Amino acid sequence: MGVTPNIAPSMLSADFANLSSEAHRILNSGADWLHMDVMDGHFVPNLTIGAPVIESLRKHTTAYLDCHMMVTNPLDYVEPLGKAGASGFTFHVETSKDNWQELIQMIKSHGMRPGVALNPGTPIGEVYPLVEAERPVEMVLVMTVEPGFGGQKFMPEMMDKVRILRKRYPLLDIEVDGGLGPSNIDMAASAGANCIVAGSSVFGASEPAEVISLLRSSVQKA
Ligand code: DX5
Ligand code: ZN
Repeated sequence: MGVTPNIAPSMLSADFANLSSEAHRILNSGADWLHMDVMDGHFVPNLTIGAPVIESLRKHTTAYLDCHMMVTNPLDYVEPLGKAGASGFTFHVETSKDNWQELIQMIKSHGMRPGVALNPGTPIGEVYPLVEAERPVEMVLVMTVEPGFGGQKFMPEMMDKVRILRKRYPLLDIEVDGGLGPSNIDMAASAGANCIVAGSSVFGASEPAEVISLLRSSVQKA
């Protein structure tokens, strides 16, 4: 495949009281990115982290911070996240039907890489205009659980979306998020996903490095 694997452990499953050491532990175990789940208690019924925590973590690592914005008003977060040192800014298409062009432009002008996420119930066609725009998103995140919480069950039926995307966009970064681990990575990788978010399966493992390397080799083989 012509795309690079990026294994992105979700810091939602880390010990929040020891974020810096958790980040180093997981990067030393081979993680490519750190997936940061920003939730506002409104778009999803959970409240997690925001710009201040990302700013603190940035002081301890140069790693790519892959920010997944589960917030109702992503535009309000662009400047704070950019200043905090976020690397990727992935907003939900459900929140941004009318202003995605402005959002993408703002994200880029704040030095971040724009991505778009979609919920299990959202048809894949809704992201096409954002990928095909003059100023496009650079990643599509296909949710494989309902957003809001870690530790949920992977939805295999979402692989149809991944397959359709990969066929249409051979070089696009396609990320999957929710319930991923050794038991289903081959399904996601063969469908065409190359950016893999994994929370519980990595942080819950006795040897996170083994899980990360297994996820990577599955994407490489696909
Ligand atoms: C869910 C989050 C995910 C979650 C993944 O709303 O977007 O990133 O932390 O965790 P696991 O891998 O445990 O499903
Ligand atoms: Zn996420």
